Amino acid sequence: MGVSGVGKSTIGSLLAKELSIPFFDGDDYHPEENILKMSKGEPLNDNDRLGWLQTLNKLAIQQLKNKGCIIVCSALKESYRTILSATITQHTKWVFLKGSFNLITERINARKNHFMSSDLLKSQFDILEEPKNAITVSISLTPNTIVKVIQKKLADTSEFGLFGLGVMGKSLSRNLASKGFAVSLFNRHVDGKEVDIAKNFKNEFKELATALPFDSIAPFVNSLQKPRKIMLMVNAGKIVDQVIKDLLPFLEEGDILIDGGNSNYNKTKERFDYLKSKNIHFIGTGVSGGEEGALKGPSIMPGGDKKAYKQVQPYLEAIAAKDANNLPCCTHIGTEGSGHFVKMVHNGIEYVEMQLLAETFLMLKAMGNNPDQIATVLEGWKNTANSYLLEITIDILQKKDGDDWLVHNIMDKAGNKGTGNWTTIATAELGVPSTMIASALFARYISFFKDERVAANIHFKSEQKTKLNLTNTELLNAYKFARIINHYQGFRLIDEASTRYNWGLNLSELARIWTNGCIIRSDFMSHLVNTFKTTTNILTNKQIIEELKTLKPSIKKVVSECVLNDLPIPNFSESINFLNGFSIADSSANLIQAQRDYFGAHTYQRKNDVSNKFYHTYWKNN
Ligand code: 6PG
Repeated sequence: MGVSGVGKSTIGSLLAKELSIPFFDGDDYHPEENILKMSKGEPLNDNDRLGWLQTLNKLAIQQLKNKGCIIVCSALKESYRTILSATITQHTKWVFLKGSFNLITERINARKNHFMSSDLLKSQFDILEEPKNAITVSISLTPNTIVKVIQKKLADTSEFGLFGLGVMGKSLSRNLASKGFAVSLFNRHVDGKEVDIAKNFKNEFKELATALPFDSIAPFVNSLQKPRKIMLMVNAGKIVDQVIKDLLPFLEEGDILIDGGNSNYNKTKERFDYLKSKNIHFIGTGVSGGEEGALKGPSIMPGGDKKAYKQVQPYLEAIAAKDANNLPCCTHIGTEGSGHFVKMVHNGIEYVEMQLLAETFLMLKAMGNNPDQIATVLEGWKNTANSYLLEITIDILQKKDGDDWLVHNIMDKAGNKGTGNWTTIATAELGVPSTMIASALFARYISFFKDERVAANIHFKSEQKTKLNLTNTELLNAYKFARIINHYQGFRLIDEASTRYNWGLNLSELARIWTNGCIIRSDFMSHLVNTFKTTTNILTNKQIIEELKTLKPSIKKVVSECVLNDLPIPNFSESINFLNGFSIADSSANLIQAQRDYFGAHTYQRKNDVSNKFYHTYWKNN
């Protein structure tokens, strides 16, 4: 592309020959009416150009089925280029031939039988919007050199950079490369520890044949087409700031950094603001699905400026999992740290889903089942309560370790990387009772006190023999009940943050991108996509109310039986306690208010006073 007279046809056909791909001159595709107009010396308007640009787009799409092609076209405006590359943005490479007004006029006028009025050329310069994402080559070089420069740049530039080749970074790189994207890969060099990571990784997988590996920052950044798109796949925390600091000197205005780690949403907001002041876009992105998801299709939750997102959308959507309608499980979540916020709550919901299955395991074990038998029971639950976590739990339970089951030999101390902790802080800060997330987090913390638990067991172990009087159906019903409450609480927290921070989050769309690729995908999540189309509070949905009512007797029975048998099931028990507390019309908070007023004169309101006036009482009787 470039204004008339830059030598597009000459360079284009030479390049096509070098690359052994077909060459097309865009001018040969004008419809008759355009040719007529131009022959009369009338300039074409955007309307005249539309059909022509669409024809060239169709030609490009057609040629992509083979080896691709070179098309030359002035493509002066961004909007023309959008039409030309519609649906094939990620496969389109722009080469911009750049020359000064004087040089072009001089060259055209030196050609025999050629003349272009300086007015016509000037009008082209007037509408020219220089592309930011093109290989730009100066026409002051000879045609052969220009072709060589373009070839070198085509081979040496990638459209997307991956920074950090840990488990997730590696899987995402392979995913991107397998979708046909040219990627640059970076992993730091640490003497004796991290040596040639990117290079060795590239050589390991055939889809990375054309990937460019680096262990130093400057050449990595320079290998990227502008605006640069770099996804950081490093551990959450201070290291993200360090990486930003290291990259900044090499970045330019308009470049885009995507943080794909589990970063804290408050830090993401700070980084977003800081980078904005440097004219760099920052997209805090939740990525869920673990190693396999990252490779085959994760659920992706990007937050940040919508305009910046648009530029990385084709890449993120291409690598994302697909929902039941084949739409990508990736959507622009909202501004600031909203992407990382929703990923954080996703993990909170995940903690609960895992804890409920762990408690189910405990109960079924107490009912005399071995892991294989428990797996068989859970297999039956797939019909009405299937989820990814249920499926992997069944696999886990069946894994043997010699004559025993592996699960029996795993130390019962649950780790965590912080997202459940942050969700619990966020729910407390926002004043939303997402009690199950807190309870699941604290269950993990309790598990960690293994030595103290063993010691306490001597004093407090159950005297009676465990006798759980429960049926599998009661257990399944209780499980379904608790999961509904979990999803209510998680989404309620997201909705509150959306209102508070003005993010305008769409809960149905969120549920949709969580129907595949992520850890909390489930049949119930798919069901919620529709539920959230009409409400942000699922406890007002008729069908869900009816379901909870039907399931309630089972959760009451399950929790009671476990308490009577000294079995800890904090999450099951929290679910029913929450609903009881949330649906009691007359609570005991009146006494709390009286106590607060007694010792601190904090005042209280009276039920029979609609003015909401505050009262204080002198409580002592004498
Ligand atoms: C995911 C997971 C993933 C990871 C977290 C949770 O969605 O793919 O949530 O992000 O498993 O690190 O970790 P912890 O259980 O260690 O807190």
